[in-house]
Amino acid sequence: MSSRVEALLAQMTLEEKVAQMVQIPYAQMGRKEALAWARRGAGSFLHVLGDDAREVQQAALHTRLGIPVLFGIDAVRGHALNDHATIFPSPLACACGWDPALTREMGRVTAREVSADGLHWTFAPLLCLSRDTRWGRVDETFGEDPFLTGELAAAMIEGLQGDDLAAPESIAACAKHYLAYGEATGARDAYDSSVTCRKVREVFLPPFKRAVEAGCATFMTAYGAVDGTPLTADGHMLRDILRDELGFDGFVVTDWANVTSLVTRQHVAADAEEASLLAAQAGNDMMMNSPEFYECALRLVREGRLSEAVIDGAVRHILGVKERMGLFERPEKPENPGCIGCEAHQQAALDAARRSVTLLKNDGVLPLSGVRRLAVIGGNADDIRAQYGDWTYFTHPTPSAKHPPVRPYTTIREGLEALARERSVACNYAYGCGPLPSERDDLDAAVSLAREADAIVLVVGDEIRQFGEGKDRADLALSGRQAALFDRLRALGIPLVTVLLASKPLALERVAEASDALLAAFNGGAHGGQAVAEVLFGEVNPSGRLPISFPRHSGQVPVYYNQLPGWHDGQYCDLPATPLFAFGEGLSYTAFAYDSLTFDARTLTASVRVANTGSRAGRETVQVYFRDEVSSVLTPVKTLIAFAQVELAPGEAREVVFHLRREAFSLVNREERRVVEPGSFVLMAGHSSRDEDLLSVRFTLEG
Ligand code: BGC
Repeated sequence: MSSRVEALLAQMTLEEKVAQMVQIPYAQMGRKEALAWARRGAGSFLHVLGDDAREVQQAALHTRLGIPVLFGIDAVRGHALNDHATIFPSPLACACGWDPALTREMGRVTAREVSADGLHWTFAPLLCLSRDTRWGRVDETFGEDPFLTGELAAAMIEGLQGDDLAAPESIAACAKHYLAYGEATGARDAYDSSVTCRKVREVFLPPFKRAVEAGCATFMTAYGAVDGTPLTADGHMLRDILRDELGFDGFVVTDWANVTSLVTRQHVAADAEEASLLAAQAGNDMMMNSPEFYECALRLVREGRLSEAVIDGAVRHILGVKERMGLFERPEKPENPGCIGCEAHQQAALDAARRSVTLLKNDGVLPLSGVRRLAVIGGNADDIRAQYGDWTYFTHPTPSAKHPPVRPYTTIREGLEALARERSVACNYAYGCGPLPSERDDLDAAVSLAREADAIVLVVGDEIRQFGEGKDRADLALSGRQAALFDRLRALGIPLVTVLLASKPLALERVAEASDALLAAFNGGAHGGQAVAEVLFGEVNPSGRLPISFPRHSGQVPVYYNQLPGWHDGQYCDLPATPLFAFGEGLSYTAFAYDSLTFDARTLTASVRVANTGSRAGRETVQVYFRDEVSSVLTPVKTLIAFAQVELAPGEAREVVFHLRREAFSLVNREERRVVEPGSFVLMAGHSSRDEDLLSVRFTLEG
């Protein structure tokens, strides 16, 4: 630990140290109280912008030791709580790009805009896995797979933090929510996760390990519990595993009111003091919105119930990050409002949106050609709030929450109208219905408008009242009157393209079967509408791949691809075992063919040839999976271990080579150790996780 941090620590009173461990929510606390906390030396504030933040920082700098305050914000998909910032696709949509470079760029732009606003730290990326998609926060994740999540999260962290965390345009990242938060029982947000420590190590820990390797400055403790122990009180997870085993050297912040919740929600502590003791001893360094921790911790140390060494350890971690961020030299980030929402950043968001569009079915109707009259139907075709999704200035209590939406943005309707105009296609819009019933619903009007068209684009999905924290769904079927609207449009017999603008995969089996084409757009951000229009009209060749599987029915969830093997082919008596759309799937306007898969078990080098056999240039995501044929514990039917993208001209072929590490073939054994068990394995490579899309070779690994 640095001498500056040690010197500072030596000068600090117990009160000053404990105050560093407190994070104050500005909006909830109000200005007066917040400033009092700044004068007391609170280590961090969240959700405060502009002049308010500057005032708080000045108050902190004028305290006895003048330790700068760290400002945190949820910049989950761009700096989107600021109404003028660049709004990117949701992390789930971004993950459809399967492209770390794209995700890194999203992180870079986010960091520039957050720091241009004078802030230091974002509570992102989210590394939870969306395996039970009834969960309300699927949109914030990179999907269902540990490996893909880890790769994209690491790229995001690199983008946010840059090469040097102290650089003016770098901000600290936060790997959250540690741990297994997405696996809550029944997908009810923040409930217990009924998984063992072995399972944690096998499935949920690997992305967080990647985050440590990527140098992530902070981690956030999840709300929930693993195997009955709240993460906030879990010293094994926080100290033994995160600190000692993974070597994490930043600081750990709790999630919102986690300490309070040990008493009020989880009932593992009788009062605030006991909760504070548990949280500090378990290894939480900073307590988000549990201000009672301050008085409690002081009492606990004074009464000899909590060792001051525990407090010192936490403060060391916090000051260490502040030092690494250059806060002592430059507590205030140089403001640069001109960069917020600038042209170049909007372009980056448009690129990400284009890459996120995933074509799931196409009977030949796309790209639209020869269409003279296009009907665009559906509330979500023209609703920027639904297109944005969660964690923007509309969804959280920011000063601009009540403003009308700020341009630039393009809804799907607007995107299609613009491209139709260029092509002299008549393009008409009818609302029909939105995801939830409202007075605007008018199915008759939509059907009569559609009747006059020679192609229909119907946009269905969900809206913000159906997802986000505490908004888990029991039913993933199309809500409101959307299914009825679909049926009536389908009955017209006119080519019908369905676009899913939603926070997550919905159960769309019938819609998928009966549509001529189906596209997943998820929450595409400010330029999602333009991206969808460009794909529909063929200006952009879609290259999105699903980072998550689609169920046929809510009752089939979880339907993730890397299932463990069992009896009866894994099927229900009333549903096939396969998902509606599998992890890794996604079509293109061209076609790709694979051959010549080889694997050298000595050098662990895989190679496969992929050719563009269609008539357009396109981008293919080559995916590599493996299966352990005989193992001491159950291992998944397949596991993603590598992927790469190639852009191929028509007729072009390329050999794609992967250098794998032996650890890629490991499992977590009954002793909770990650080991490679020698024996026979299968390596698979191809277009998606579906068996039909994969070539395979068997190989043996020696001891
Ligand atoms: C969420 C976190 C978020 C925090 C601060 C909590 O409700 O679970 O993901 O970072 O609030 O806004």
